[in-house]
Amino acid sequence: MSPDIILTIDEKQVTVPAGATILAAANKLGIQIPTLCHKDGLEPFTSCFLCVVDIEGRANPAPACSTAATDGMVVQTQSPRIRETRKMCLELLLSDHCGDCIAPCVLTCPAGCNIQEFLKDIAEGRNDDAVHAIKEALPIPGALGRICPRPCEAQCRRVRVEEPLAIGWLHRYAADENAAGGRIHRPAPGPDTGKIVAVIGAGPAGMAAAFFLRQFGHAVTVLEAQPEPGGMLRWGIPAYRLPRESLGKELNAIIEMGIEMRYDRVLGKDFSLADLRREGFHAIFMAVGAPYSSALQVEGETLPGVLGGVEFLARSAHGKKMHIGKRVVVVGGGNTAIDAVRTARRLGAMEVTILYRRTRTEMPALPVEVQEAEREGVRFRFLAAPLAIRKQDHGLAIRCQQMKLGEPDASGRRRPVPVSGQEFDLEADTVIAAIGQKIDAGMLRQEGLELDAQGTAIRVNSATMQTSSPDVFAGGDAVACEDQKIAVWAVGSGRLASIAIDQYLTGQPVVGRPAVFKMAMGKDPETITSRRFAGIEKNERTPMRELEPEDRVTNFREVELGLTPDVARGEARRCLACGCGAAGDCVIREYALEYGADPDRFIGARRDYTVNTEHPDIILEPGKCVNCGLCVRLGRDADALGIFGFVDRGFDTRIQPYFEFAANEAGKRLCLECAEACPTGAILKRSDLGAHICFARPPESV
Ligand SMILES: Cc1cc2nc3c(=O)[nH]c(=O)nc-3n(C[C@H](O)[C@H](O)[C@H](O)COP(=O)(O)OP(=O)(O)OC[C@H]3O[C@@H](n4cnc5c(N)ncnc54)[C@H](O)[C@@H]3O)c2cc1C
Ligand code: SF4
Ligand code: SF4
Ligand code: SF4
Ligand code: FES
Repeated sequence: MSPDIILTIDEKQVTVPAGATILAAANKLGIQIPTLCHKDGLEPFTSCFLCVVDIEGRANPAPACSTAATDGMVVQTQSPRIRETRKMCLELLLSDHCGDCIAPCVLTCPAGCNIQEFLKDIAEGRNDDAVHAIKEALPIPGALGRICPRPCEAQCRRVRVEEPLAIGWLHRYAADENAAGGRIHRPAPGPDTGKIVAVIGAGPAGMAAAFFLRQFGHAVTVLEAQPEPGGMLRWGIPAYRLPRESLGKELNAIIEMGIEMRYDRVLGKDFSLADLRREGFHAIFMAVGAPYSSALQVEGETLPGVLGGVEFLARSAHGKKMHIGKRVVVVGGGNTAIDAVRTARRLGAMEVTILYRRTRTEMPALPVEVQEAEREGVRFRFLAAPLAIRKQDHGLAIRCQQMKLGEPDASGRRRPVPVSGQEFDLEADTVIAAIGQKIDAGMLRQEGLELDAQGTAIRVNSATMQTSSPDVFAGGDAVACEDQKIAVWAVGSGRLASIAIDQYLTGQPVVGRPAVFKMAMGKDPETITSRRFAGIEKNERTPMRELEPEDRVTNFREVELGLTPDVARGEARRCLACGCGAAGDCVIREYALEYGADPDRFIGARRDYTVNTEHPDIILEPGKCVNCGLCVRLGRDADALGIFGFVDRGFDTRIQPYFEFAANEAGKRLCLECAEACPTGAILKRSDLGAHICFARPPESV
């Protein structure tokens, strides 16, 4: 029998047989040392260097997987030097590792919708499954599919082939199909926790928070100033873009999860935060939006016939009679301005003009909305700003200043600069100021909430949405900066707040969502190599059916008519299934998070992304290989000798399959064993792939 050895690891003594490695001794103590290239029963390979430890008396760190323990040895596994060495090793491994852990579309959706999964469900005709996947992140997918500016599509990898997937249209399609016939999906509420949460404001932020809080099992009461839910989606965005019936169905499905709604209740007037605390609410979510139009700050602004954009749209949405006359001028270049002009056309105005101080290129409104306004007969007066409004015999006159573009400002857009001496008048019956929305700062301060330095938003911790009062959380437009003032950001903030509120109510540290590590295929989008997209057939998206302009301007009927089932399925099949099928159990990803590795720290190219789909049970993505050699060494012990081998040297070393040896049962078994052992997504079991099968890719290897 071999003599025993006693050594000390992290101040703990352990006895192991002679010949045991430091790694085996640490395992005996329950001390975790990270490994990538080690597997019990296989000879050491020492390629990853993650298992390094400090040994007293030795100048350099040593790999624990291949260094034998010796009597009296003193080992440190977590010294700052060791942690730094592991971090650097990971960064070197990741510097040429090529893959998207998570699809870029998913990363970009502010609510974190699992786009890839629902696209696969639609592509395979499982529409209700698609809605289940979508509603894990988006409680109102039909509404968002209609109005979201779709930042996800801007990042879709399909642009490298021709144009992005129609992601928004597709979740609208799935939601509309699901809602038709009254079988709308409502997730089940969680078991009752005995905690009650007040949500103030029934816009997208508040309704999203309520939706997720019910799933955690908390009771929710929503207090809303208006007589119906929806916030700006109901009272701001016109019905021709978002029909009230479809919005109502989605909101009712949320309410039917067991939410108490108290309408016509105004915070700061009918009740206070202190009242809610006295009533016994354990936490409060503030989702009161930014309900007022920003002022033009010009003389004549308070004259009859001058309105704020939000107020004008709300009056129209409430069906209130308005006499706007034939000539309407709307000041502003964002979506509210476009909604205002298109609504004015529908209310009978014949001469409708947008007055914008920059040019079309700088307009924050979506280009498609601008085009549609133009098709509906709206005129644009660019490079002009109002100076004063005065009453005249027939209507109003707006004194305007001619502008030119100067240097870019903080937003990156070129700053408008007055052209001295060039002024002109525009005539109008109604002037609408649509230059932005603002919060009710006075009321919020009175309720004890801290605002940001400019007084334009409630101050929150952006990881948790918690305000300066620990029991009060806030989200949506009331906390958003200008770029974030979109409905899906409000939904995402409600989702995030619900997670933090649940942590607060259940006595956990309030930290928000756990951090994840993610790397992208290229170090920036331009460096993504084009081989990834080689061989993918061009297949443009089919345009949405819509009402002709002449059929629109006399009514508020929906303009965009939705996708047909065939078009939706075909569109979903364009998805390239980006993201990694192994992201859920990737070892290198787990360590990269633990050690704070930066995948872009070392310059140099990533490998090319290639995929090999020849084998019926596994898929290879060799650009993700970290040369740990596990699959190569596993082959040496098997009957099916040598299915995987290394070819080339240095940076070019890569894994090469010899599938001709994988034909028999032993070979197939070995392939699956290698996929299990592979610490990254370089070898993937087809059966684990789920949404990562790409329809658009040709079946042969590229
Ligand atoms: C005209 C217009 C067009 C837009 N177009 C788009 C678009 O196309 N796409 C897009 O993504 N986003 C668009 N937006 C922005 C989007 O509507 C907002 O980002 C989103 O609605 C913000 O959600 P929220 O829940 O924070 O606030 P809101 O939707 O404003 O909801 C706040 C709710 O709180 C209630 N409330 C306010 N004060 C109180 C109080 N004191 N007490 C009780 N309740 C109160 C309000 O009545 C309201 O129901 C548009 C906004 C406007 C105004
Ligand atoms: S909500 Fe907007 S960003 Fe999110 S998936 Fe839909 S279209 Fe994309
Ligand atoms: S191709 Fe599919 S998975 Fe890839 S970014 Fe586009 S929608 Fe997302
Ligand atoms: S493909 Fe083989 S060598 Fe490459 S990471 Fe996976 S198991 Fe290791
Ligand atoms: S060098 Fe020890 S596990 Fe890789």
